[in-house]
Amino acid sequence: MPLLIKNGEIVTASERYVADIFCENETITRIDKNISAPPGTEVIDATGKYVFPGFIDPHVHIYLPFMGTFAKDTHETASRAALIGGTTTFIEMICPGREEKPLEAFELWLGKAQGTSACDFTFHMGVTRYDEEAERDFKEIVRRGVSSFKIFLAYKGALCVTDEELYKTLCLARKLGVITTAHCENADLIVELQKKLLAEGKTGPEFHEASRPPVVEAEGVHHLMTFAEMTGAHVYIVHLSCEEALREAMAGAARGVNVWVETLIQYLLCDKADAEKPNFEGAKFVMSPPLREKKNQKVLWNALRKGFASTLATDHAPFDFATQKQMGKDDFTRIPNGIPSLEDRVNLYFTHGVQRGQIDLHTFVNTASTHAAKLFGLFPRKGTIQPGSDADLVIYDSNYRGKISAKSHAMNLDYNAFEGMEIEGRPHVVTVRGRVAVRDGKFVGEAGRGKFLQREPNHF
Ligand code: URP
Ligand code: ZN
Ligand code: ZN
Repeated sequence: MPLLIKNGEIVTASERYVADIFCENETITRIDKNISAPPGTEVIDATGKYVFPGFIDPHVHIYLPFMGTFAKDTHETASRAALIGGTTTFIEMICPGREEKPLEAFELWLGKAQGTSACDFTFHMGVTRYDEEAERDFKEIVRRGVSSFKIFLAYKGALCVTDEELYKTLCLARKLGVITTAHCENADLIVELQKKLLAEGKTGPEFHEASRPPVVEAEGVHHLMTFAEMTGAHVYIVHLSCEEALREAMAGAARGVNVWVETLIQYLLCDKADAEKPNFEGAKFVMSPPLREKKNQKVLWNALRKGFASTLATDHAPFDFATQKQMGKDDFTRIPNGIPSLEDRVNLYFTHGVQRGQIDLHTFVNTASTHAAKLFGLFPRKGTIQPGSDADLVIYDSNYRGKISAKSHAMNLDYNAFEGMEIEGRPHVVTVRGRVAVRDGKFVGEAGRGKFLQREPNHF
């Protein structure tokens, strides 16, 4: 059925105007004043509301075997939560163990998402081992439409790559024209600091940050900059958390490295003190890189405003408090790392960014949608509102007032790191390729309607 959205204020990364949007066959076909609805059209009145392009989360984990357990969401629960929060596309990490075959991992992850996700999705291919067999698989995976890699410089003995593997990955990425996303922390330093802290009897979640201080993250970024400079590869630093790391990225950029920076909603709103909460509550906030001193929030907001940081993601990695976080009750190094935030990113970013005057509307759209679409080969199919683009639209009510709570969230998790925080705005209607998937906080979409988005390399 065709869809007509009337009188909304359309906001993209560069434009803002009132018009009607007509959608047919899953795409936007016309944008104009006073479009009349042909018979059988669903009409939505968006008067007084913003119409944003569907938001894109470029860093999520849904199927995630990690630290001896599995993240809690399924693609069905995660996509529903994403859509309720205005995210219509996500990019998930494929994270095979070192002993697993990359192509089999790709097929496993694709099989989990296809037929279950309610929103569109694609992947970054995790490179957790590099040899001839793996290289053949990576080439095939790129041919099948995955045009970004993911590497970990942290998690020694698990997902972490050696320098030789890092070099070879970046050489291949350069040759194939794909971008490499990277978790930047020095793995060996973390292991040594963890051992030292545990030997001193410092076993609680409040010591997680001390085991991976800013200098350890900055060293990881510096390391990546060196390898990117040597290979000419395009690199994207995931979940950058602090000033020290940002300085290294900018120093790399200043000498010509092709580098982009992502930060996360939790680094803007939570800080080190959250991971120091008593009664093991701090475990809810254990993630890597860790939450930092509050002063870094100002630096990160500024980076988003000025374009030093290109994207605002979640790194959604849901492990429940009642059982999974408890695995590290006597040893913080065993607390599964990560927090759930897929559902709340857009509303919190709008509230604390736009409503509180930290960023303007265009920066909001650019960093939460458009720039990710451009960097990862989804633009202009996703990330904007123009004829020919997929009709993924968020009709946004900036007058809505509410509170975040695990009692009402859709994520499959027993806690919410943003519990009790107020939101000033939420999606009124969310569409996925021309069909309504959310109305006033309620999911009305279809599990399994989400499509795997194949992406071309060499789109830079
Ligand atoms: O703490 C985090 N970030 N957990 C998820 C895995 C990762 O490093 O991205
Ligand atoms: Zn990471
Ligand atoms: Zn991650």
